[in-house]
Amino acid sequence: MNLTDALLGEHAIINELLDHVRGTVLKSDDIRNIQGAVAAMERIVVSHARAEEDLLFPRLEPHLGQMGPLAMMRFEHNAIDDLLEAARRETGIDALKSVIGRFLDLAHDHFHKEEAVLFPMARKCLDEATLIGLGDEWAARRKVTVGAQGC
Ligand SMILES: [Fe+2]
Ligand SMILES: [Fe+2]
Repeated sequence: MNLTDALLGEHAIINELLDHVRGTVLKSDDIRNIQGAVAAMERIVVSHARAEEDLLFPRLEPHLGQMGPLAMMRFEHNAIDDLLEAARRETGIDALKSVIGRFLDLAHDHFHKEEAVLFPMARKCLDEATLIGLGDEWAARRKVTVGAQGC
C-alpha cells in the first residue's frame, strides 16, 4: 500500500474521533466527560503525526528542503501537541472548550493542507516503489498485513 493512501485512511478514522469530541463539547459541561473524549482521540492523533515525521518528512526533505511546507507541518504538529496538553491540564469548563475549539480548527486545517498540498507533492516527488516501501514500513508499525495473495 502507498504510504499516502495509508495516511489518508488514518485521517478518515481521526475525523470520526474529532466529530465525537466536537459533539461531546456541544452536549456536555462535564470536564471529565470532555477530557475523556479528547483522551480517546489523542493517542491516534499523536501517533499519526509521529508516523508522518518518521516515515514521510525525511524522504521529502531532499526534494522540499527543511523550510516551506515541511517546516509548516512540523510547526502545526507541535501546536497540536501543545493544545492537547493544555486541554489535559485545563480545569475550567469555558477555557477547556475554547482550547478544544482551537485544537479542532487547527487539526481540520492541518489535515486539509496535507490532503490538498503535501500528499500530492509526495506523490510527485517520490516514485511509486518508494511510496509502497514506506507503506510497508507503516504496515509493520501499525501491525497490519498488506500485500498478501489470499487463496
Ligand atoms: Fe500531519
Ligand atoms: Fe496527517
